[in-house]
Amino acid sequence: MIIAIDGPAASGKGTLAKRLAAHYGLPHLDTGLLYRAVALTLLDQGRPLTDEGAALAAAKALDLSRFDEARLRGAAMGEAASVVSAFQPVRDALLDLQRRFAAQPGGAVLDGRDIGTVVCPGAEAKLFVTASAEERARRRHRELMEREGAADYEAILADIRRRDERDASRQVAPLRPAPDAVLLDTTALDADGAFRAALAVVERVRSRM
Ligand code: C5P
Repeated sequence: MIIAIDGPAASGKGTLAKRLAAHYGLPHLDTGLLYRAVALTLLDQGRPLTDEGAALAAAKALDLSRFDEARLRGAAMGEAASVVSAFQPVRDALLDLQRRFAAQPGGAVLDGRDIGTVVCPGAEAKLFVTASAEERARRRHRELMEREGAADYEAILADIRRRDERDASRQVAPLRPAPDAVLLDTTALDADGAFRAALAVVERVRSRM
């Protein structure tokens, strides 16, 4: 069974994907890390994020195990990733890797922006996870406060709005739910409530398989 989970920045899709993967014993790929790693490669090379040729070369040679995950997950890298992810050749170069991951025997859980629409249009279960921008900013703020002891709510909210706009308005693979995705608005749900709701969706799919 392939479970595709898409949604905007800080919607909680990553946490949900991880929990669903653990629940079903499936491998999980956070596809945002791929775009973050491409961006980090350019920054380490001292190149501008707008250097499409260098971004493509980085995507083609990508080996996720070579990167420090904490560095990839920093707020700055999310913003940087949304710049390189708008290049179609970069997306094409990462497609194969994602599809191979999804094709593992038994299935997989993938989360990102275009899993249900582009990477795995045939996925058995598709979820599109959303929450209001303010709620997502509150969650990210809490997480950064816990991890780093300091965070600026207004700056986080502005970053989330900027990334939403960039991800939704780009020409290639814009952020939008697949027609057959189930929308899950987690604004009023805590992590356990969101997990129970997601599990109910997947169980409904499984009962029909
Ligand atoms: O999910 P995460 O915040 O790690 O993603 C970082 C950026 O990578 C997103 O803002 C988006 O521009 C890009 N991305 C994408 N397609 C995916 C996953 C991430 O374009 N499947």
